[in-house]
Amino acid sequence: MKGVILAGGKATRLRPLTYVTNKHLLPVYNKPLIYYPIEAMARAGVKEVLITTNPEHAGDFINLLQSGKDFGVRFSFEIQEEAGGISQAIKLAEPFTHGDKLLVLLGDNIFTHDLSGTVKKFEKRKEGAFVFAKEVEDARQYGVIEMAGGKVRSIIEKPKQPKSNLAQTGIYMYDDRVFELIDKLKPSKRGELEVTDLNNFYVEEGTMQCEVMDGYWIDAGTSHDELLAANNKVAELVRKGKLE
Ligand code: DAU
Repeated sequence: MKGVILAGGKATRLRPLTYVTNKHLLPVYNKPLIYYPIEAMARAGVKEVLITTNPEHAGDFINLLQSGKDFGVRFSFEIQEEAGGISQAIKLAEPFTHGDKLLVLLGDNIFTHDLSGTVKKFEKRKEGAFVFAKEVEDARQYGVIEMAGGKVRSIIEKPKQPKSNLAQTGIYMYDDRVFELIDKLKPSKRGELEVTDLNNFYVEEGTMQCEVMDGYWIDAGTSHDELLAANNKVAELVRKGKLE
């Protein structure tokens, strides 16, 4: 299994904090935001990790993260020239993945669940994809997962009237067909190659698995309030010894 962490995008929702820096470099309690998905990747046992980011801040990521030795992983870097969507960024991992399976983490997601068991199980699967879901109070700002009989029935991006309270988190696993599926995607109304459209190829095929994640999860990048909530929660978890 190879890993990719997505750290591009414009982060307009976090302005003015993100006028001169990338949101994944912003502090969350005692570390830059990007450290949390990197540490989750290392805990999952995935050692070869690609970081994708935008050209303006790529140098800062290399200065900060260096080879990956301090995290027990080895980094590669790719530039996403325009913020054309999560699936566009995943596509940059094609030459890096070499036909292996791929664990994708969105660089603004912080969570406590240990992924290693799920990664091992997915490595044994012949084909398909996997997504973690998390119950939330208001799912309207996320991809929303509808389940029926233990199977994923649909995933709808930011619906006005969610069919469930299960948010699609930013933790995905894919087989090696993912790149040819991305080639088939068309930009959405907001002009992006959406991860939800990619995931729905697998949903329609019946090969998308989904589990509800234990522990704490937050998408720290959605608003100033979420970023503040992430800071407070991470401080509490670190003090209780539940997060490094
Ligand atoms: O965090 C979970 C949510 O992430 C899911 O529920 C949604 O289905 C999914 O679309 C996504 O929604 P967001 O609106 O939160 O996505 P955002 O634009 O914030 O980007 C998520 C991460 O991906 C963030 O770390 C930046 C990175 N990204 C985003 C875009 C659009 C890139 O690296 N390149 C991009 O072009």
